[in-house]
Amino acid sequence: MAQSSSKTIFLCNSCGNEFSKWHGQCPACREWGTLSEFSPPKSRGKTNGRSPRETVQLKSLSRQSNRKRILSGLEEVDRVMGGGMLPGSMILLGGQPGIGKSTLALQIVSGCDQTTLYVSAEESEEQLALRAERLGVTSEHLHVSGENEIVNILEQVSVVRPLILVVDSIQTVYNEDLDSLPGSVSQIRDCGQQLLNACKQNGFTVLVVGHVTKEGYIAGPKMLEHMVDTVLYMEGDERYDHRILRCTKNRFGATNEVGIFHMTSNGLDEVTNPSELFLAERTTNTAGTSIFPSMEGSRPILVEVQALVSKANFGTPQRNANGVDIRRLAMLLAVLEKRLGHIMGMNDVFVNLVGGLKIQDPAADLAIVAAVASSNKDMAIMDETVIIGEVGLAGEVRSVAKIDQRLQEATALGFTNAVIPKGNMKNKKAPKGLKIHGVKTVQEAFKYIF
Ligand SMILES: Nc1ncnc2c1ncn2[C@@H]1O[C@H](COP(=O)(O)OP(=O)(O)OP(=O)(O)O)[C@@H](O)[C@H]1O
Ligand SMILES: [Mg+2]
Repeated sequence: MAQSSSKTIFLCNSCGNEFSKWHGQCPACREWGTLSEFSPPKSRGKTNGRSPRETVQLKSLSRQSNRKRILSGLEEVDRVMGGGMLPGSMILLGGQPGIGKSTLALQIVSGCDQTTLYVSAEESEEQLALRAERLGVTSEHLHVSGENEIVNILEQVSVVRPLILVVDSIQTVYNEDLDSLPGSVSQIRDCGQQLLNACKQNGFTVLVVGHVTKEGYIAGPKMLEHMVDTVLYMEGDERYDHRILRCTKNRFGATNEVGIFHMTSNGLDEVTNPSELFLAERTTNTAGTSIFPSMEGSRPILVEVQALVSKANFGTPQRNANGVDIRRLAMLLAVLEKRLGHIMGMNDVFVNLVGGLKIQDPAADLAIVAAVASSNKDMAIMDETVIIGEVGLAGEVRSVAKIDQRLQEATALGFTNAVIPKGNMKNKKAPKGLKIHGVKTVQEAFKYIF
């Protein structure tokens, strides 16, 4: 299957496998239209120009484990990365155009205050300086470069000897030995591999900025995501100024943490109390909304679930979900129809999590069901109530994790009632000012909240 290095080969953009000829469908991962041509550079062959004898230098494992993480001073970023950046790791930061990737990268390196080489092939050094001035970044240790040839970048690295290297962005960096254009699969793969080798051998951290495709994935080979240690995505909703930093892969920490920022003219400000932000424009006493205390990693965040049920104008009713898994929503609608008699077959159903958050926590089930039923009945849910619980196929409400943190956050934000699973009631003392009500089924929950 794999070819000798002198011939043109075809690389799968999705699984990274190599083939001797082009296929419409990748024989390995069965994805369509993912193969692209790749001509390996002629000068290659030996490992980085060294003889095989020279390449092997063994190190003791026990000596490797005492590395200290580099803190950026931005708590939201450090938490998402699992407690700071690990020296010798490669981090990929992706996001839509103009979302604030370069801003965040500059703020991170400024906060770290370590010798840094910021390679910006996308912007000129003057443009970078303008941004740095706007953000108030004046680090002595920050070196900037407008280089975009990988060999020259690595040469600059050997001169500056940075602890952090920022490459903004990987799509603009290229290797002259390759025939393809910057941003192509083969260029990204090759440059990514060279950066990885350099960072692992020399122990500096590489922060690579990556563009995303219109489907929302980081452009280039999926292999790039396999290659790096940490993958961060910056997301945002055009309607709001806040940005969400999400970790989708982390070899050295948890992946369920999110960081929340507010975009201002002076850069990204950390949002220390996200619940207040997400509930800021909440309307009370309105049918079709419910409040759910979500756990984003180690932190509770109150979010508003909105639902709209309306008569379908076309043959097939629409199901639309923002921030909620559409298949989970289909299951919850089936439970509502079968167990509670809410006929949904003739209605369009729209569900939206306010603020652009995405939730996969099954503890949100009861709040979603309640919001949909509230819109369908055109009846508002009891005031100042948070709703928590996983819903089973029989319409039962199942217990959830981290109930205490969820209830504490609800109390802190002034909520006075909580509907929680009966299973979570054992030995439970309600926080002061909060009345908790344990329910076994969705019917029981509805009797209480409507
Ligand atoms: N003076 C300003 N006041 C407020 N916000 C600003 C200002 N200048 C820039 N911004 C914000 O910063 C964003 C651009 O940030 P940045 O250049 O870091 O994004 P990016 O993700 O790196 O973009 P690209 O994909 O083009 O590289 C703008 O979309 C805007 O929201
Ligand atoms: Mg940028």
